[in-house]
Amino acid sequence: MLTNDRLLRAARRQPVDRVPVWFMRQAGRYQPEYRQIRQKYSLMEICEHPDVCAEVTILPVRQLDVDAAILFSDIMTPLRAMGLGVDIVENVGPVFDRPTETLKDVERIPQLVSAEMVPYVLETIKILVRALDVPLLGFAGAPFTLASYMVEGRPTRDYKKVKTLMYSEPAVWRALMEKLSDMVGTYLVDQIEAGCHAVQLFDSWVGNLTRADYETYVQPFMPRIIERVRATGAPLIHFGVHTGHLLESMAAVGGDVLGIDWKEEIDRAWERVGPDMGVQGNLDPVAVFAPPEVLEAKVHDVLRRTAGRSGHIFNLGHGVMPSMSVAALQRVVDLVHLWEPEG
Ligand code: CP3
Repeated sequence: MLTNDRLLRAARRQPVDRVPVWFMRQAGRYQPEYRQIRQKYSLMEICEHPDVCAEVTILPVRQLDVDAAILFSDIMTPLRAMGLGVDIVENVGPVFDRPTETLKDVERIPQLVSAEMVPYVLETIKILVRALDVPLLGFAGAPFTLASYMVEGRPTRDYKKVKTLMYSEPAVWRALMEKLSDMVGTYLVDQIEAGCHAVQLFDSWVGNLTRADYETYVQPFMPRIIERVRATGAPLIHFGVHTGHLLESMAAVGGDVLGIDWKEEIDRAWERVGPDMGVQGNLDPVAVFAPPEVLEAKVHDVLRRTAGRSGHIFNLGHGVMPSMSVAALQRVVDLVHLWEPEG
């Protein structure tokens, strides 16, 4: 039963007894228990076994006392269900058998008409909502971030192929973004219908675009996703990295909470986002490696900047790293939960 709904209250900008905290990539290689499970199962095999997947999802909730669980999966999961050959290569990331390059390539990809095409995802969600007392977050990669992997075929530094396609092949770009935004909308709504309490849209790499390019090539496709989620009533968190120059444009597409990376001062970012949205973030992930007193000061700095204002969800500015210690992350959670706004 959901006995701790701090995260949902914060996402709706309602008052909370404690600032809610969770971590992106809170399930993963920094946990000895996860590494042990990974000896037996690949990442994708974990996702395909609902019992194992539920266990991996719950582990950080019990270990760290965070205020939310995030479904253990990957942004590539629905693309695999659409028949795309993609593997997640250790220490590299997603690698496709064949990059998506032409209109024919886009047209050939079958649409995800329902998350029933990924039955193990729905099955895992059902197990989790029975087991958890904190909200369960579903998620999806946003169209630009997914397209960048599909077009490049693998992780990239310069986004040359995907941006060149975007600039030079408007019909291919439109077809790809429309196909992906329809898929993402369906996938998020189906996760909510299966029991997820809120969802996060990961547009992790959109910060590599200029603001003008974001507004021209990405922004027009976002409302069709966000409107569909809004109709369910479940809150949506929208997140990207290195997006300081995009905050107003990302806020303009809607959603309840905007993720802020660690380079921005969260109070100033919130002013730019405006009072109608909450914010999530934004401790520098590397601060977790700092000496205890430095870490404490940095956690308190983020909290002081949001000053107990309703609508803040504490998180790192990006994901947990494999070399972090469980103890340091536990400490961050404690610092957040013990914090009382001054005055
Ligand atoms: O705990 C959670 O946050 C839930 C699980 C989760 C994973 N991937 C599992 C995973 C989530 C939310 C994701 C999203 C994801 N996947 C994103 C967006 C989030 C972000 O970090 O901005 C992206 C860009 C991906 C693609 C991807 N998958 C990358 C770049 C990698 C890293 C490759 C590596 O080995 O370093 C992955 C692999 C991956 N996905 C791991 C986990 C826990 C690594 C551990 C493993 O291989 O077991």
